[in-house]
Amino acid sequence: MRRIEVGGATPYPVTVGEGLLSTLGVPERQVALIHPDDLPREFVEQVQTRLSPVVTVSVPSRDACKTLDVYAGVLSRLAAVNLPRDGAVVGLGGGAATDLAGFVAASYLRGVAFYTLPTTLLGMVDAAVGGKTGVNLPEGKNLVGAFWPPRAVWCDTDTLSTLPEAVFREGAAEAFKHGLISDPSLLPRVLAPEFRPGGALLEDTVADAIAVKAGVVTRDLTERGERAFLNFGHTLAHALEGVTHQGIPHGEAVAYGMHYAALLSVAQGGADLAPDTLAFLRWQRPSPLPDLTYNDVAPYMARDKKADSDGVRFVLLHELARPYLTRVPETVLRAAFMKWQSDVSGLAAANPVG
Ligand SMILES: NC(=O)c1ccc[n+]([C@@H]2O[C@H](COP(=O)([O-])OP(=O)(O)OC[C@H]3O[C@@H](n4cnc5c(N)ncnc54)[C@H](O)[C@@H]3O)[C@@H](O)[C@H]2O)c1
Repeated sequence: MRRIEVGGATPYPVTVGEGLLSTLGVPERQVALIHPDDLPREFVEQVQTRLSPVVTVSVPSRDACKTLDVYAGVLSRLAAVNLPRDGAVVGLGGGAATDLAGFVAASYLRGVAFYTLPTTLLGMVDAAVGGKTGVNLPEGKNLVGAFWPPRAVWCDTDTLSTLPEAVFREGAAEAFKHGLISDPSLLPRVLAPEFRPGGALLEDTVADAIAVKAGVVTRDLTERGERAFLNFGHTLAHALEGVTHQGIPHGEAVAYGMHYAALLSVAQGGADLAPDTLAFLRWQRPSPLPDLTYNDVAPYMARDKKADSDGVRFVLLHELARPYLTRVPETVLRAAFMKWQSDVSGLAAANPVG
């Protein structure tokens, strides 16, 4: 078992290990449990046995739960049982369910205690740490929310064994990204055969990937500085999600986006890490992309949250673990896109899907 402390104004522990769902406890006497409706029943029952929630709310799976309607419905369920101010909300599931649960906790009675039990790899290494909670609007993802750090996070690695393999590989993109921007020892471990549910490298790799994000958000909770480095690969990723109308899973978009950012880094004089990002894409086996031109993705990249009135900024790498934020000339963006396209189309040929 590993324990990571997240610091800042409201510090909290993240525990990573096997069998945690059957040992957890919280000080609050009244608890509301929120989970996605397709989560294996055994996980819900384990938590119910430990915490005896006054209400258990099952919500639609994936981002279908991150809507204002579902959010309002959950608040009504909590109000109907009079969950008190000194009660707690517990989010069990992937990043979507824990984002919703966190926003419910942040806003119900102007804020109650929140605990997170992530059950996906992405939920563990990314969504559960850092305090971002929220829901989507028809106009876009995560447009409503709050910073509401949990009181504690338990990552029970046993839960990952029921995760579809593609979802596990998708979540690994964020762990690999943490390796590129901060802890290079993660890179070979993420690609190793023992990094899998039940594998010998799982617990430490998950814990070390969490430690990277924990360190960053401890120093910069509200993204005034280095938290932006966690967006490595995300500028093109968000553009790919936008241009495909969310038709590509986030972790796969991030893997494609990291390769583009690696190519831009070389073009701007950095070390050549494109072989590493390409190796990750080969390992992940993402869904093939539709034919895209630079002009298709450029408008979406221009809407990136790191853009300001002078244009888009990218997180690039001088070398492993040395990220920086910079503007990149359009000619360089276009040239790297051509190279990226040729690399990723070669990938589809090497990895026929079907
Ligand atoms: N708050 C943050 O900082 C942050 C960071 C990254 C992503 N996110 C959010 O996280 C969401 C994506 O999260 P995700 O990748 O975890 O996917 P997800 O929450 O959509 O879950 C994927 C699917 O797996 C199911 N599932 C979850 N755990 C399972 C298990 N152990 N076994 C079998 N099935 C299981 C879910 O119910 C769902 O159907 C997005 O909404 C994204 O915006 C938030």
